[in-house]
Amino acid sequence: MSEEILRNVRSNLFKIEPYVPGKPMKEVKREYGLEEVIKLASNENPLGPSKKAQDAIVAAMADIHRYPDGGARDLKVALCERNGVTPSQILVGNGSDEVIKMISETFLHAGDEVVIPAPTFSQYWFGAQVMGGTTVTVELGAGFEFDLDAVLAAVTERTRLVYLCTPNNPTGTYIKKQAMQSFLERVPKHVLVVLDEAYIEYAEAEDAANGIEFLHGGHNVIVMRTFSKLYALAGLRLGYAIGPSAVIGAIERTREPFNANLLAQAAAVAALADEEHREASRQVNRDGIAQLTAGLELLGYSVIPTQANFLIFDTKTDDKEIFQALLHEGLIARSGTALGVPGYLRISVGTAEENSKFLEALKRVVFRLNQKV
Ligand SMILES: Cc1ncc(COP(=O)(O)O)c(C=O)c1O
Repeated sequence: MSEEILRNVRSNLFKIEPYVPGKPMKEVKREYGLEEVIKLASNENPLGPSKKAQDAIVAAMADIHRYPDGGARDLKVALCERNGVTPSQILVGNGSDEVIKMISETFLHAGDEVVIPAPTFSQYWFGAQVMGGTTVTVELGAGFEFDLDAVLAAVTERTRLVYLCTPNNPTGTYIKKQAMQSFLERVPKHVLVVLDEAYIEYAEAEDAANGIEFLHGGHNVIVMRTFSKLYALAGLRLGYAIGPSAVIGAIERTREPFNANLLAQAAAVAALADEEHREASRQVNRDGIAQLTAGLELLGYSVIPTQANFLIFDTKTDDKEIFQALLHEGLIARSGTALGVPGYLRISVGTAEENSKFLEALKRVVFRLNQKV
């Protein structure tokens, strides 16, 4: 290969920090010689997929020699019914990761600005950097609460996108209706506000903003949601965005024709219809948050209140050390350092058994680390 080829690589790509996912369970088992590993690292649904979704996948399997429906009609019809929108307002993606990339490809020229309250989900930076955009990071306020005035102050003539993730990954904090209303009324008309609601189905706070209401209110918003979390289909990769038809139509131009695969579409339609599985998943989460919060507080930690299916807490020490020690115990968490919240650890809610194994392992790890000092 000639050196010239590498010189042709777009220089902005070298600025991209590759995404570091939660460690796969198989890898941890192999690396640490463990029989049992518990993964509480990627905010997945610990109940597993709905039986109805699994049946739909089995039924659809005989058709996988065919291309999927590129227009995802059945799925869009189901989503339209729930959200009071039309199919032209829905864009499907191979996970909302792909939706973020498509939004970036649609709106960003080199040098265009993207405003991102942080710490938050890393793919917003990725999307901007792939397109040579400039990211403007606005720190969250005290207690990781959103400071939307500061976000507004960071908007300039060059701003094209503002990402608001609510409930926010990795902090679990959320944006209240009133704050969102006031922000959207003031944000300049040339800015598209991307509301990432990957975890909104878990939120129980009565005053939590719901993007669809603001979309119906005529604001410049696009709402992203996913089947990876409450709907427990992360492995199939299916996310979507709902927005004004003209905006969705523009983003559609970047979409590959068959980006949402056939099994994912079938499973998603079935999962949407399975209210029982969703309610059970919410209950597991509610109970898990209470269990983890009480257990962590008993160990002397303070927990950031969360509206999602994960929480962060202040380790009051080097989070990387605790993360590593937990790996040896067969527990995969996420170190806050890797997520922009150094000193904290992020735990996804597991089953009651997984949560208590985590708490026990943490207790052992902290005891050992304290003895070393
Ligand atoms: C806030 C947020 N948005 C989007 C995603 C990506 O979801 P998907 O699996 O649909 O690509 C995640 C995944 O963890 C997330 O935390």
